[in-house]
Amino acid sequence: KRMAIFASGRGSNAEALYDAIKAGKINAEIVVLVSDIPDAPVLEKAEKWNIPAIIADRKQFSSKEKFEDFILDQIKPYQPDLIALAGFMRLLSGRFISHYESRIINIHPALLPSFKGLHAQRQAVEAGVKVAGCTVHFVEADMDAGPIIAQTVVPVMEDDTEDTLAARILTVEHPTFVKAVALFCEDKLEINGRVVRGA
Ligand code: GRF
Repeated sequence: KRMAIFASGRGSNAEALYDAIKAGKINAEIVVLVSDIPDAPVLEKAEKWNIPAIIADRKQFSSKEKFEDFILDQIKPYQPDLIALAGFMRLLSGRFISHYESRIINIHPALLPSFKGLHAQRQAVEAGVKVAGCTVHFVEADMDAGPIIAQTVVPVMEDDTEDTLAARILTVEHPTFVKAVALFCEDKLEINGRVVRGA
């Protein structure tokens, strides 16, 4: 499959996908990387990997529609079969999503439907939950919603801070994302209402 990656930051999840493709664990090719942050470290990785990068700086657009239209126009020639949101910190509209219905996959550092949105790991620490983890899911217009493909649980320790918990969750994000994307690329996932079969 032809994969686009959208990322806003450091790019460790993007790197996990890249490495898994190189290792033959995901049957895909990363055709383009999109970032909304002009100096995001992930852009240096894309350059190193020889993957074309598109910068879509939201501040340069007068509306969310124009920002999204720019991205749609820019990625269209690459004909992506799949968009992997690897730490992409912007909410996509229903209109954007409709162009790639059931073909956008997100990773979120919490066990959804708990702790949607920003600072999910801090929310978990503050809530005093004893387990946390990550969720990979198909994207719908509501934030951090959509049929769940895979989840992995980690323990929360008594002395955890947002940072120590985030680090523990990150170690399971990478293999969980890789596994979910690999299954998608093999056409093994079937969406049945809220339920994804095949994972
Ligand atoms: C990850 O924790 C991801 O789940 C969250 O943002 C972080 C991105 O990390 N949405 P990276 O850029 O993939 O290293």
